[in-house]
Amino acid sequence: MSVSKRLETIVSFVQGRVLADIGCDHAYVVVQSLLENRVQKAYACDVSQGPLERARANIEISGCSDKVQCLLMNGLDQLPFDVDVIVIAGMGGLLIREILTQGLHNIHPGTHLVLSPHKDGKALREYLSQNGFVILQEKIVEDGHFYPVLNVLYDGISKQDLSLQERDFGVRVIVDSDYRNYLHHEKGKWQKILNRLPDSQKEDVLEKIKNIEKMINDL
Ligand SMILES: C[S@@+](CC[C@H](N)C(=O)[O-])C[C@H]1O[C@@H](n2cnc3c(N)ncnc32)[C@H](O)[C@@H]1O
Repeated sequence: MSVSKRLETIVSFVQGRVLADIGCDHAYVVVQSLLENRVQKAYACDVSQGPLERARANIEISGCSDKVQCLLMNGLDQLPFDVDVIVIAGMGGLLIREILTQGLHNIHPGTHLVLSPHKDGKALREYLSQNGFVILQEKIVEDGHFYPVLNVLYDGISKQDLSLQERDFGVRVIVDSDYRNYLHHEKGKWQKILNRLPDSQKEDVLEKIKNIEKMINDL
């Protein structure tokens, strides 16, 4: 199985007893988490039969079949009661938000989540911060694209006041070369946008670029 830096980072955030990987596809996260003894048991879950068959085959090859149950299910619909760590990765932030909203009643307070949206991270952070989730830490992974990986705790009660900067660029982000590259990439992206705008519409984007520059200078 080819292993990406993104998937390795997701696995490095998994810590618990029973894992559910929602939208597991290849099941790399399930297999590697078991092989590294990060959890004792896992559920490989997917809404589609094809990915679940792929998962089953990889789990069998890895020799972990006795510790994994494959579940064909939509989001968190029939999440087993013993799950204490949930991974949802490789989807957009809006879909992750929808899965959490629909399945919130199945998540126990005290559950850890590792969430990695490939886009719309801001919308996901806004939702988490107002619905009983605490974003403990984030890592930006540079792996052909920039992926946030969020380490989250569900306690069912917390509300986290996020700054605009945190909503856009992450909460308690690990400062490393990937994060530096991410901020420079974002600055370049907004500069290109700025160059295409008429003078009358430049103000907000100039403000955004100034904020990113400040974040870079504060590193
Ligand atoms: C791009 S793959 C990501 C696979 C893996 N999680 C990763 O990060 O590499 C997305 C997977 O999510 C599954 N998926 C999409 N919506 C889902 C849902 N509502 N519930 C469960 N799985 C879903 C898809 O079938 C697909 O296998």
